Amino acid sequence: MKSVAVLPGDGIGPEVTSAALDVVEELSLPLDLRFGEIGWECWRQEGDPVPQRTWKLLTETDTCLLGAITSKPLREAEAELPSDLRGTGRTFVSPVIQLRQRLGLYANVRPVVDLVNTRFDFTVIRENTEGLYSGFDFHGLDDALWNLVGQHPNAQASGPEATSVTLRLQTEFGMDRLLRYGFAYARSRGHRRLTLVDKPNVLRHSGNHLRERLESIAGEHPDIEAEILNVDAVALWMVRRPERFGVLVAENMFGDILSDLGAGVMGGLGLAPSGNIGDHGSYFEPVHGSAPGMAGQDRANPMAMLMAMAQMLDHLDLRVPGDELRAAVRSVTARRATVTYDLGGTSGTREVARAVAGELGVT
Ligand code: NAI
Ligand code: MG
Repeated sequence: MKSVAVLPGDGIGPEVTSAALDVVEELSLPLDLRFGEIGWECWRQEGDPVPQRTWKLLTETDTCLLGAITSKPLREAEAELPSDLRGTGRTFVSPVIQLRQRLGLYANVRPVVDLVNTRFDFTVIRENTEGLYSGFDFHGLDDALWNLVGQHPNAQASGPEATSVTLRLQTEFGMDRLLRYGFAYARSRGHRRLTLVDKPNVLRHSGNHLRERLESIAGEHPDIEAEILNVDAVALWMVRRPERFGVLVAENMFGDILSDLGAGVMGGLGLAPSGNIGDHGSYFEPVHGSAPGMAGQDRANPMAMLMAMAQMLDHLDLRVPGDELRAAVRSVTARRATVTYDLGGTSGTREVARAVAGELGVT
């Protein structure tokens, strides 16, 4: 029996979660679903978007399924607190960022599957903890930073006050664990190729470091072809020849951009799933947010959540039901008779989920 913390969250989160869980129930899986609370309502009522009881639930369960969470700018967040909590210095920290940091979820895994023509099936794995988003981001440079960049002619023309710098952090610790995860993922899904996305001809020293780590870890996996491609070329090919890719591994910013490109290639936010994975924890969620304007209307596409559930089942070593669920999603999407507005249909959230449930065991 595997246990799953189910955190429906805000906006359309609860309705896509409940519709998708009705489908998963048809599979009669050995899953213990334990519901918890997270998100904007927790912030509004308790001043904490991830209450202690939710952290406790996360430590007691094998993985987590997240609906979606509403975030708002800091001023609005403060204004929506209960009056006795205002002005006490509480700040709203995005729950997904808290989860990634506290659970050490270093790999953001985005499967990109052609649900209509089965032409492509690849996965973008983005590094979540370092790279260009490490937080070494400065505006107005002190002497140490100025010594580093002050020779650049544009910096000379601007001066230290009018210059900003962002550092791309790459550590062997961070690169090796990501690459190891990438190869293990490729093997578990039967992919024969791992593509490391970088820009080595421009970022020569860090790119070379990354190449060395790739070569070293690729040596442990001789049956999987490893290559390095430039990020701009990957963007072009992802649109033109997505079928050429298996597993793509990228540093934080390149991966951020390519994973949203992947969601677009796949057909939009209504379809795209994601997982955030570390050595001691994980959570799975649709890529889309809480779409508050659509909440409670039975209009949201549940397919992204269903694909996230399939990804979670794979991660829990329930590959056969994961494949079964994906096949059912695929046939309903491809047939186009029962799809939501974003795919050109008129069906509602629950009707689409029922159609997927009806496909289970048929394919
Ligand atoms: P969003 O993804 O919630 O919605 C953008 C648009 O995409 C919607 O207006 C809708 O047209 C479409 N859409 C999204 N999900 C859909 C679905 N399942 N079916 C059909 N159409 C769908 O992004 P937005 O509007 O930028 O953010 C809304 C809230 O969600 C914000 O508070 C934001 O902070 C939060 N958010 C949360 C995320 C998370 O929980 N991981 C990720 C992105 C945004
Ligand atoms: Mg993004």
